[in-house]
Order: sequence, then C-alpha cells, then structure tokens
Amino acid sequence: MSDPDPTRPGGAAPGPAPAVPSPDVPPLLRLRGISKHFGAVQALYRVDLDLPAGEVTALCGDNGAGKSVLTKTIAGIHAADEGEMYWEGRQVHIRSPRDAAALGIETVYQDLALADNLDIVQNMFLGRERRSRRMFLDEDAMERAATQTMSSLRVTTVRSIRQPVATLSGGQRQAVAVAKAVMWNSRLVMLDEPTAALGVAQTRMVLDLVRRLKDHGLAVMVISHNLNDVFEVADRIAVLHLGRMAAQDRIAAFDRQTVVDFMTTGGSTRDATSAGAGQGRSQA
Ligand SMILES: Nc1ncnc2c1ncn2[C@@H]1O[C@H](COP(=O)(O)OP(=O)(O)OP(=O)(O)O)[C@@H](O)[C@H]1O
Ligand SMILES: [Mg+2]
Repeated sequence: MSDPDPTRPGGAAPGPAPAVPSPDVPPLLRLRGISKHFGAVQALYRVDLDLPAGEVTALCGDNGAGKSVLTKTIAGIHAADEGEMYWEGRQVHIRSPRDAAALGIETVYQDLALADNLDIVQNMFLGRERRSRRMFLDEDAMERAATQTMSSLRVTTVRSIRQPVATLSGGQRQAVAVAKAVMWNSRLVMLDEPTAALGVAQTRMVLDLVRRLKDHGLAVMVISHNLNDVFEVADRIAVLHLGRMAAQDRIAAFDRQTVVDFMTTGGSTRDATSAGAGQGRSQA
C-alpha cells in the first residue's frame, strides 16, 4: 500500500485495504511481460497475469502450455528472462523459493507437498517447529494450532491429527497442504492440478477448501484441466496457449466452449474476449 497521502483531508493514515477488489486497489500479484525459455523452447512469452486477493483465478491451458513453468516462476524456482512482478503495486524480485515464502506465496503440489513418514502436525510445522523455553518441542501448542486451523477450514474427515500422512487419502493430503498454507498466513496460494488424481468426494473437499481460502481473503490460483472444477470455483480465468496468455477475464466473459477454443487454438470467434487473444487482457 502507498504511504499516507499528504493531500488527504486530515492527513490520516490509510486504513486496512478493503477486502473487496476495486479498480483503485492493485491486485495482490501482477505479472507484466514475463518470458522464460529453456534452450530452443519458449515456455512463456511476454505473459501478463493478475492475481487479486479474495478471488480464485483458474489458470487453464493444454499440456505444455506453460502453466507449471509460470507457477514455478512465481514460486521462485525458475528465474524469468524478462518481465516484471508487482506485489500490492510495488515491484518485487522473486529469485528463490525463500523470496516467495517471505512474501506469503505458498505452492501446493499434488505429490511433493508433504513428508509421508511424518504425521499431520509434524508436516504443518516442518522446519518451523515451536519450542518451549527449554528448547523442547512444544507439542501441545503445535497440536492445538494444527487442530484449530484444520477445524477453521472444516476439514473433518481426518481421524487423528497424529496420523502419518502416508495413511491419508489424496484429498486429505491436499487438505493438509492447504491448511499448512493457511496456518502460515500465506497470502497467495497456488495449486497445481490439485484434483487431478482425486475421486468425486475428495475433489469436492478440495474445491470447498479453495473457496474457504478465498473467503479468508487470500489470492488463489488453481491450475486445472477440468472445466467442471474451473466453472465451479473460479472468479476469473486465464488461458495460456503455447506460452502466451491467450485470454484473461472474469468468468462471466467465458463459456466452456470459449475456454476450450482458447486452450486449443489461442483464439475464439464466439466471444468479445477473443479481442484479447495473444496478449493478456487486464481484468475488468
Ligand atoms: N525444466 C525444463 N527444461 C526444459 N523445458 C522445460 C522445462 N520445464 C518445462 N519445459 C517446457 O516448457 C513448456 C511448458 O511446460 P509446462 O510444464 O509449463 O506445461 P504445462 O502447461 O504445465 O503442461 P501440463 O498440463 O502437461 O502440466 C513445455 O514445452 C515443456 O517441455
Ligand atoms: Mg504442468
């Protein structure tokens, strides 16, 4: 947020940012002109993307479109060749996963997020364990915090918070990974194909969680091939085609066929949204 406005009557410091996005409030994260190549492969070409707080943005695209590379660039795993990133309107340089974590960016991968041999509490505190005064691990405090977070997200299907993660279902594992992101006050959560390997009930649970993250005021980016999931949970859609942002707008600007058109050809004749083909449209 900007410094107190000296021209404002009374010169009062600005209050907390409004929860509802308005045209005056910059998105939590804004990418402009991000490119990334690997040898001869241009994985991303001048990509623009806005991720507003309190909204779910679905990142769509065919296999190889650049979704994971874009996610990893935001997560500090890949360095962009060119382009800028703005966090609440200020330019930032995310050069490592540590930089991303410091901003409050958490990435949830289907398989890599959790340590199988540890239980839920241990996973949620991994690397950030709480210690009591004598440096013993404060197991009670960690268990309370983990339990509180899980219940605030209404994750109720887990039998015991002390269950090893290896014994959880795919959906429950996702739930723990998401709860971990919430517990650590993340501000942007990116989920790469969170429901790809899940059954119907588990998918529902993960989509409910995504909605709750948004209700907590977080910016959420979900990568999904499943248009049912996208239309159920997203407020905005961004479609990558061969490394370029083919379309980006509020969900009302799309129907399923338009999204499929953009995913497969990079354009659409069905909708005004196609005017933005080839370059990221700023959202309404
Ligand atoms: N580490 C890498 N080295 C070289 N090329 C890469 C690397 N990572 C991705 N690519 C290439 O970049 C392009 C985009 O890949 P990316 O993984 O982002 O696709 P995706 O949209 O996530 O696809 P999928 O839906 O299959 O997961 C592909 O052509 C891929 O081969
Ligand atoms: Mg991918």
